[in-house]
Amino acid sequence: MKFYNLKENDEQVSFAQAVKQGLGKNQGLFFPKTIPTFDNIEELLALPLVERSVKILTPFVEEDINEQELTDIVTDAFNFPAVLQPISNDRAILELFHGPTLAFKDFGARFMAKCLQTFVAKDAKTTGEQKPLTILTATSGDTGAAVAHAFHGIDNIRVVIMYPKGKISLLQEKMFTTLGDNIETLMVDGDFDDCQALVKKSFDDKELATTIGLNSANSINISRLLAQICYYFEAVAQLSRAKDSLGDLGDIVFSIPSGNFGNLTAGLFAKAMGLPIKRFIAATNVNDTVPRYLETGQWSPNKTVATISNAMDVSNPNNWPRVEHMLKSGIVEKGCVSSVSIDEEQTQSTVIGLGKLGYISEPHAAVAYKALQYSAIEGEFGVFLGTAHPAKFKDVVESILGQPIGLPKELADCAGEPILSQELRANFADLRAYLLA
Ligand SMILES: Cc1ncc(COP(=O)(O)O)c(C=O)c1O
Repeated sequence: MKFYNLKENDEQVSFAQAVKQGLGKNQGLFFPKTIPTFDNIEELLALPLVERSVKILTPFVEEDINEQELTDIVTDAFNFPAVLQPISNDRAILELFHGPTLAFKDFGARFMAKCLQTFVAKDAKTTGEQKPLTILTATSGDTGAAVAHAFHGIDNIRVVIMYPKGKISLLQEKMFTTLGDNIETLMVDGDFDDCQALVKKSFDDKELATTIGLNSANSINISRLLAQICYYFEAVAQLSRAKDSLGDLGDIVFSIPSGNFGNLTAGLFAKAMGLPIKRFIAATNVNDTVPRYLETGQWSPNKTVATISNAMDVSNPNNWPRVEHMLKSGIVEKGCVSSVSIDEEQTQSTVIGLGKLGYISEPHAAVAYKALQYSAIEGEFGVFLGTAHPAKFKDVVESILGQPIGLPKELADCAGEPILSQELRANFADLRAYLLA
């Protein structure tokens, strides 16, 4: 299958090219030429996660990755579960945080890393030369950890991660700065915007980009979204298996804690492929560009506001053009996405409310649960996404609940390791010299 640029439709590339390139001309997002559908969804749902995911992904990637390679990639990438936990009779959370960095990003980042590893090895075989590949990314916390762990130990791929010095939590920092090997980390004397600006300048410097083979591994990469489709199928598979104990499921509605709207994009792909999902609720915090847009038709981003669900502090979501395309072109029905904005007070009281139900959550999941409580109607079964482990937001959750929460092994293990980062001034000349050294 080919992927085309949503801005410059004539640009059509293979899956491998779309993954390596990230963005198309004029910063356009890649989108699959067709959305495959399945005749027998029940049969698909009956399969185990890896086998089912191979079937889901095959039509998208088969031009570049054969079935055995894909099976190896998916087996390696999805080596942890997505767990559906019932919260009440008609609510369940899909916990996506059982991977190595305790966040949903592990699914997409690990799949992308394994795909790139395959392409690098194939390119070297065809051309007889090993081309350099450097993943350069800026992080305010979570992405760095998922990318670092996903690429750690992969031959011939160098990873350079920049983050603002002193502006992320020590635990977050330890999760990606203690690995070493092919993972290099730079603490930048500046803020997150400075780090992002340095990444952008590096990509704009064509000579540098070609010399070191730059790729950003960020969340607009189509490979990350395709991987995320698989856990929607897994949720519905687990729901249909649990039907008896969960009572009548009714119509399934997903509530998605949304920032850049990658998770919503993947959910819409799943629906378009035939997965029986009635509709989606895109839950945002007070950074509410999308809920206001769906209500008024006006796209008018406000200045981004800092919240306790900070991974969703986005006012210009970079995946929105994909969602809009699916809604406008009829790939999914227009009415199947609604959006609700949840404020800080509601988020905190929802963390407390879920705690009373016996479930420790963190602010992002709480935003999604609250949005579900607002908009689900009778007969609907609501699933909300748990995008991060509560321990990743330990300070906030402990202060809301007034009780300590334990550290999972993944966090406890790295807490005692030394930080291996180098310092960097927020200065492009210094970064360029570092990258070329
Ligand atoms: C914990 C958490 N929840 C939700 C989101 C938002 O996801 P998306 O950008 O796919 O909308 C993010 C994104 O970084 C996240 O880290």
